[in-house]
Amino acid sequence: MAILIKNQEQIDGIRKSSKLAAATLQYAGGLVKPGVKTEDIDRSIEKFMRDHGAIPATLGYKGYPKSSCISINDVICHGIPGPYELKEGDILNIDVTTILNGYYGDTSAMFTVGAVSEYAKKLIHVTKECLDIGIAQCFPGNQLGNIGFEINRHAVANGYSVVYEFCGHGVGVKFHEEPEVSHIAAKNSGPVLKKGMTFTIEPMINAGKARAKIDRKDGWTARTIDGKLSAQFEHTVLLTDTGVEVLTQLP
Ligand code: MF3
Ligand code: CO
Ligand code: CO
Repeated sequence: MAILIKNQEQIDGIRKSSKLAAATLQYAGGLVKPGVKTEDIDRSIEKFMRDHGAIPATLGYKGYPKSSCISINDVICHGIPGPYELKEGDILNIDVTTILNGYYGDTSAMFTVGAVSEYAKKLIHVTKECLDIGIAQCFPGNQLGNIGFEINRHAVANGYSVVYEFCGHGVGVKFHEEPEVSHIAAKNSGPVLKKGMTFTIEPMINAGKARAKIDRKDGWTARTIDGKLSAQFEHTVLLTDTGVEVLTQLP
């Protein structure tokens, strides 16, 4: 299997789906407040997508039961929305993936509930910088590994660790395509980036140790092994002639 280079029709479809994913994420973020159950946010996400002609890619994906992932505090990723009520001081990642006319768009961001600690705010800020630093490595001719190399360098320089057990991925025609986008790769490693590639960059940055452990009961929820905070941002990007278009960025 090789990295799929998308044609113009596919790019237009992935762009539309990605814009809807971005709009869904913005809408979901507006629902975050103390006392709200994460399953209520998830239900609103599903309705928003369906009202706009899309379906949630996660629903039923490898048995995953919900329309989004909502990962709170020490949850790294794949948090399953449920009866938990958000409370002041929580930090959370909401991750949404749309399927619109068969095309996929995948994005996530951090949100905060009321006032949060400076410690949490700094982690979120640096994690967003890591995503932006990764995006800056997206230009034709560069090697894929430089994305993860620069992300890891920035995280470590700030005293954080980078999750290596989950990666970004090609996306667009399927949910998870080649290539795997490591967030800790070696400099000048991996395939050469080419115009027409679409993939996600989605660094998960931990305040403490990098290791993840999966919840034994639900088989999905990935938490930090030391219980410390984790943050994540994700965009779907398109390699262009000269650089990159962030497909899941709203204008
Ligand atoms: N959206 C996640 C990603 O960025 C994947 C979630 S898969 C699920 O790749 F099954 F957990 F929903
Ligand atoms: Co993704
Ligand atoms: Co995602």
